[in-house]
Amino acid sequence: MSENKNKVFFVMGVSGVGKSTVGELLGKELAIPYFDGDDFHPKENVEKMSKGEPLNDNDRLGWLKTLNILAKEQLKKNSCIIGCSALKNNYRDIITNGIEKHSKWIFLEGSFAVIMERIKNRSDHFMPTELLKSQFDILEPPKNAININISLNPKEIVSTIVNKLNQKSEFGLFGLGVMGKSLSRNLANNGFYISIFNRHVDGIEENVAVNFKNEYEELSAALPFDDIEAFVNSLQKPRKIMLMVNAGKITDRVIESIVPYLSEGDILIDGGNSNYNDTKIRHNYLKSHNIHFIGAGVSGGEEGALSGPSIMPGGDKDVYKIVQPFLEAIAAKDENKLPCCAYIGNDGSGHFVKMVHNGMEYVEMQLLAEVVGILMALGNNLDEIATILESWKEMADSYLLDITVKVLRKKEGNDWLVDKIIDKAGNKGTGNWATIATAQLGVPSTLIASALFARYISFYKEDRVELHKKYREATSKTKPNLLIDEVLKAYQFSRIINHQQGFKLISEASKFYEWGLNLSEIARIWTNGCIIKSTLMQELVETLKGNENLLMNEKFIQQIKELKPSITKVVSQCVLNELAIPCLSEAINFLNSHTTANSTANLIQAQRDYFGAHTYQRIDDDSENFYHTNWK
Ligand code: 6PG
Repeated sequence: MSENKNKVFFVMGVSGVGKSTVGELLGKELAIPYFDGDDFHPKENVEKMSKGEPLNDNDRLGWLKTLNILAKEQLKKNSCIIGCSALKNNYRDIITNGIEKHSKWIFLEGSFAVIMERIKNRSDHFMPTELLKSQFDILEPPKNAININISLNPKEIVSTIVNKLNQKSEFGLFGLGVMGKSLSRNLANNGFYISIFNRHVDGIEENVAVNFKNEYEELSAALPFDDIEAFVNSLQKPRKIMLMVNAGKITDRVIESIVPYLSEGDILIDGGNSNYNDTKIRHNYLKSHNIHFIGAGVSGGEEGALSGPSIMPGGDKDVYKIVQPFLEAIAAKDENKLPCCAYIGNDGSGHFVKMVHNGMEYVEMQLLAEVVGILMALGNNLDEIATILESWKEMADSYLLDITVKVLRKKEGNDWLVDKIIDKAGNKGTGNWATIATAQLGVPSTLIASALFARYISFYKEDRVELHKKYREATSKTKPNLLIDEVLKAYQFSRIINHQQGFKLISEASKFYEWGLNLSEIARIWTNGCIIKSTLMQELVETLKGNENLLMNEKFIQQIKELKPSITKVVSQCVLNELAIPCLSEAINFLNSHTTANSTANLIQAQRDYFGAHTYQRIDDDSENFYHTNWK
């Protein structure tokens, strides 16, 4: 049963929907006081309204704050009901300021015609058509409310509300690791009634869900479980359950354990970093059990999951619509306050897009590591490098640049912490899959591969130490001849190539799998909440509208031309001074290859034909015929 204690129930809607009648009846039913918000209007507002003049935002501000104070005071005692129009999101934000998790909105809705008719029939209530119309004009229906159609009579309305209040949880979260915990709190903070589950493992994972619920106030209404059947039964149908468990076999095992308790039409959402091929298989498998499946990429780490991640959901669109209010409510918001969550496409497309996000993340991280290496070779210490990188924010701001500055400055005693970390970079597989996917699709997203292999090389620490002795010990360290501004430009250049390659991979996959992906929309949901959010990503939202290749975009052509001399010099200097810069060098190599009109691939064709009779096409034959030559 959901908790109705310590809550303020706001009954809202335009004039004439019956807020007072419903509010009073509901108050009696729940045995808590009802307050009519209209009684708290200042004199000036009352006068204005009685003249039939609509109130403006300014008029309402003081009134909204008064209602906020009223709600807070009542909460100290227990629960109450407040009836008020609260037509706009920001009105509701003011009213619930500071008590968000204790507030529940009940939205009485009806059409203009129905409400006008009701008002006309009421002897005690006069309202000009214009005034009601002005209310409909500004009405922003609440997202996470109990919606009640006023076609029911007041008694029925109240019993529907009571049923809804006492009803089962709206959403289930399975797996209370770091991400699952943060997402649960995010859902609860958004006012959703949730059930949370974590398995029981003797002596290792005991009472995880209960203890977690007790730790956070916002989870006071959450229902905790370590029994799968009870967890599933605590949810409203169709059940919506988000799995936050380790990708791979564990996800399959969890699905197997939960399916027996599900009913037709229930929805599982996999929010882990699953392989998109697995997602497609799971989607089809669950379909055969009449269970829906959404594979949702979730980016933002622990912090993003709590305050708003970027979410990339894939699966059947109709199914997505059912879970949309939950996912959009908990997602980060872009600069226009739109959720950084949008339907991506069919089957595994959400996880595919998340995988490419991670591939691009690997590159962005590797580029920063290479840049720091160069700045060190130029004689800067880590604090100085942090200051240099901080100054780059103006031209190339990103979440990863920002955290790199903080990481570089972190000290342990007098020492930089980074200096104490073994230089072996780990990975959980998404960069690997992105490299496999780009190779399988025949798309040259070479930077992702370079960044991945740079991590792999780093892992051979013992070999590197040994080989250093053999190849480098005798040679003296030299300093590259570079200006800091040239390093910045090389970094900017390489980031453009990274984004070009990443979006190209998505666009080619979209064609191949017939997903119909919207590149600009993907860039938009990556402008906040995710690890690769940046000012460049914000720019791309516009650029990618109807334009899938950044290299063909006039603005980027100009930028690339301006940055090219610097990347060329930086890469040359690094090679001359034995600095490994796999992503920076691949970025310029890629552009050089890509802008070579007549390459030496003709020789490859000739070689293939020589040893394998693989045939070739001729430049002097437009008919696209294939030729074979006896080369001996
Ligand atoms: C994110 C991250 C997140 C995680 C990955 C990367 O978008 O929030 O990408 O999903 O950090 O697991 O991990 P590896 O670097 O370990 O492959």
